[in-house]
This record gives sequence, C-alpha cells and structure tokens, in this order.
Amino acid sequence: MNNLSIFSPGSSLTFRFFSLVVFTAVLFSSKQVYAENDQLKKLMQTNNCVACHQIDKRKYGPNFLEVAEKYKGDSTVLDKLATKIKAGGTGVWGEDYMPPQPQVSDADAKSMAQLILSLKP
Ligand code: HEC
Repeated sequence: MNNLSIFSPGSSLTFRFFSLVVFTAVLFSSKQVYAENDQLKKLMQTNNCVACHQIDKRKYGPNFLEVAEKYKGDSTVLDKLATKIKAGGTGVWGEDYMPPQPQVSDADAKSMAQLILSLKP
C-alpha cells in the first residue's frame, strides 16, 4: 500500500507525475464549474428566478440540477427551455404553474438555458 502514496520515496516517478496531472485536472474542472454556477446564480438573481428556483434545492419550481438531469443528452431542448423561461407553463413537473417572465431578455433566457443544461448533476 505504501508505494501508492505520492509522498512515499518508493513510488515511481510515473505514478507521481500521473497523480499530479489528475490533481491539476480535477482542480481546473471544478473551478470552471464554480465559475459557471456563479454566472447562473447572478442571472437568476437579476431575472427574479430565485423566488421559485434554486440550483440544488427544490423551492416552488424544480431545482436546476433536476432539470439538467431530465434533459441530459437531448440536443433539441435548448430552444424549448429558453422559450419556456420567458413564456412559463405547467405540466412538466407537476401541477404548479410557472408564470411568464417578460422581464427576461432573449439573450439572458438563452444563457440561462445553456448554463442550466450544462450543470453536472
Ligand atoms: C412564480 C414561480 C416561478 C418563477 C418566478 C420562475 N419559475 Fe421556472 N418554474 C416554476 C414552476 C412551477 C415550474 C414547473 C413548470 C412545469 O411543470 O411545467 C418551472 C419550470 C422551470 C424550468 C423547467 C421547464 C421544463 O419544461 O422542464 C426551467 C428551466 C425554469 N423554470 C427556469 C426559470 C427561470 C430561468 C426563471 C427566471 C427567469 C424562472 N424559471 C422563474 C416556477 C417559477
């Protein structure tokens, strides 16, 4: 077991190098995800979505991780979601009704749809 530690003198150079690469990759990718989530949170605040939605907890509407999970791999859904963000609707997640959000610009609706779909559940 000892030779599996990057700090142990017995571990091979290849293994140390590999560990470093993996560590850097993980660090980089998690940073990227946080930056995207921050951007989404900001848009959710300025467009008043936070009254009903959170990224990782159910409030009135579905949380956005559930939304990302539901549409994973569906390449046709981006426009549909962007339209629904402005138009509202009901029936997909239950009986609750999402009112239209006319304050949202087309650009913001599209960015939010994109950011929601790229969340990693
Ligand atoms: C008054 C509460 C309310 C507000 C404000 C609200 N939503 Fe919703 N949202 C809901 C409800 C309820 C649903 C579930 C609708 C359904 O089942 O079809 C929903 C569904 C969604 C969905 C999933 C749509 C689908 O068809 O799967 C997305 C994405 C979404 N909202 C984004 C947003 C964004 C972005 C905003 C801010 C501009 C926002 N919502 C503002 C209540 C709200």
